[in-house]
Amino acid sequence: MSDQVKYLLSEEQMPKSWYNIAADLPVPLPPPLHPGTGQPIGPDDLAPIFPMEVIRQEVSTERRIDIPKEVRDIFRQWRPSPLYRARRLEKALGTPARIYYKYEGVSPAGSHKPNTSIPQAFYNKAEGVRRLTTETGAGQWGSSLAFAGALFGLEVEVFMVRVSYDQKPYRRALMEAYGARCVASPSPETESGRAILASNPDSTGSLGIAISEAVERAVQSPDTKYALGSVLNHVLLHQTILGEEAMLQLEMAGDYPDVIVGCTGGGSNFGGIAFPFLGEKLRGGRDVEIIAVEPAACPTLTKGVYAYDFGDTGHLTPLVKMHTLGSTFVPPGFHSGGLRYHGMAPLVSHIQELGLISSRAYKQLETFEAGVLFGRAEGILPAPEANHAVKGAIDVALECKRDGRARTILFNLCGHGHFDMQAYIDFAAGKLKDIDYSQADLERALAGLPKVAA
Ligand SMILES: Cc1ncc(COP(=O)(O)O)c(C=O)c1O
Repeated sequence: MSDQVKYLLSEEQMPKSWYNIAADLPVPLPPPLHPGTGQPIGPDDLAPIFPMEVIRQEVSTERRIDIPKEVRDIFRQWRPSPLYRARRLEKALGTPARIYYKYEGVSPAGSHKPNTSIPQAFYNKAEGVRRLTTETGAGQWGSSLAFAGALFGLEVEVFMVRVSYDQKPYRRALMEAYGARCVASPSPETESGRAILASNPDSTGSLGIAISEAVERAVQSPDTKYALGSVLNHVLLHQTILGEEAMLQLEMAGDYPDVIVGCTGGGSNFGGIAFPFLGEKLRGGRDVEIIAVEPAACPTLTKGVYAYDFGDTGHLTPLVKMHTLGSTFVPPGFHSGGLRYHGMAPLVSHIQELGLISSRAYKQLETFEAGVLFGRAEGILPAPEANHAVKGAIDVALECKRDGRARTILFNLCGHGHFDMQAYIDFAAGKLKDIDYSQADLERALAGLPKVAA
């Protein structure tokens, strides 16, 4: 038996198209609605914020969508990313399971986010846009868009969630080094930000608030558009390059996943790794169990309701049907800033409703314990968000040990934690806590869900 550890594809083997799961869904995705009319929105409603090609992809049901050559040429710098067999982790756990992880920390920004920032910047540039605005949690997405902006000569303005802005100054410095402007959110620079600050001057911010600020800014200028780092169909589409590559790499290993695990903030790295395999299953191919892992302090899939809601706190976006904690819900300030979102991708929510995936929630401390265990075995210290996937994969591997089952586990290690070391310092010093959300805040946010005719 081979003891190979890494499975590498050549640049020529990089996938030339993305996989669109909308083509294979047994039940179509509920459409986004206009908050004023309650009717499905059309491309013109989205035109002030997104370029036309992105809108086309958002509503497409074609199974495959070509990745432009210019985008693939940039991806060559770090893609195809490696797939590792976690042999030392398997040994440390004493599990009969085979654990593989796709590693996205090799991208210049350190995560999977450039898989969508590069194509989004490309399409905006092609349609004459001069400036992009966006939100960011921990700063992974903001730095990925800043990197893409530098490559395509686009100005980038990033609204960074206040708590992360203070926790992760080096992410902010990276965005600025790439040439972006980074503003702490809520900020006094937008109406949405000023409204939040007026009611709570010490607001720690949230992704929902930062999205409102970025969208508000984009609609004010004709040469400015908004780019989203997760949640929407086109973002999950761009991330499927992950699963497409992993499929080829597992073929090299002569293996196929029984279980796929991914962490979910807005659902993009999870959808990216899982959808190509799920598509295979939906077309009558091999079965696979798919597990989404989220923070217990922002438990969208495990505790949220499946309903139409706004994507942002200031109610500037269309209504989408998703698992939500309510658009005004502000999660506590735990370290996985990228997972502090009140909603979930409509596609991920829909497939959970269809029973095609399950979800689990973990507390902060147990995910850091898993991340440190992983780091000591495999040498890579994961981003706090990725620690959720690591914890999920370890738990499945331990279930395999208990049951004596040699299952194949694939998980996405979506980013490294080199800009998150303060969190690891706090963890080592015993200062990191399991922060809970307030039940009263959650109930208030859910009571404010928009009323939409069934
Ligand atoms: C490293 C990392 N992982 C995961 C996420 C969560 O996003 P998504 O669920 O879209 O992959 C983020 C978001 O910023 C992130 O930075």
